[in-house]
Amino acid sequence: LVASMEEVEQTYIMIKPDGVQRGLVGEIISKFERKGFKLTGLKLFQCPKELAEEHYKDLQSKPFFPKLIDYITSGPVVCMGWEGVGVVASARKLIGATNPLNAEPGTIRGDLAVQTGRNVVHGSDSPDNGKHEIALWFKEDELCAWAAVQEPWLM
Ligand code: TYD
Repeated sequence: LVASMEEVEQTYIMIKPDGVQRGLVGEIISKFERKGFKLTGLKLFQCPKELAEEHYKDLQSKPFFPKLIDYITSGPVVCMGWEGVGVVASARKLIGATNPLNAEPGTIRGDLAVQTGRNVVHGSDSPDNGKHEIALWFKEDELCAWAAVQEPWLM
């Protein structure tokens, strides 16, 4: 069954500084690759404070906001664009609940994290935010629209 074009979504996934420093980059990328989603953008990036504040601006009034900005800017993050049918909700399931102690085993946060303030990974919460966040974190020429080749790699 071929899905209709309208169902194809984009999501912004980010491995936070703790994920990079703990050596979890490959394992996290694998989850999205093996699920079957398509990588459209990928970079290691030291996030400036202004961008972190813009990304999390809806949380500006929360008491944890300053600590959240310090955390996200404390070291490089891995920025990713992923594309696929239902990728936004599916990625949120793969990531697990915000508080890792409530995240199911088998999810990234459920398996790899303990604290809400060190929860390893971000994923957009709606298709609109997916598009918005990819545009916020990537320049246009850093993204690739590609289709898998039909030929076998090896003859
Ligand atoms: P939120 O958008 O509610 O969660 P999610 O990342 O699962 O979409 O919050 C954004 C981030 O803010 C969250 O990943 C970790 C941080 N945060 C805290 O540090 N303390 C908190 O009490 C909450 C709710 C979030």
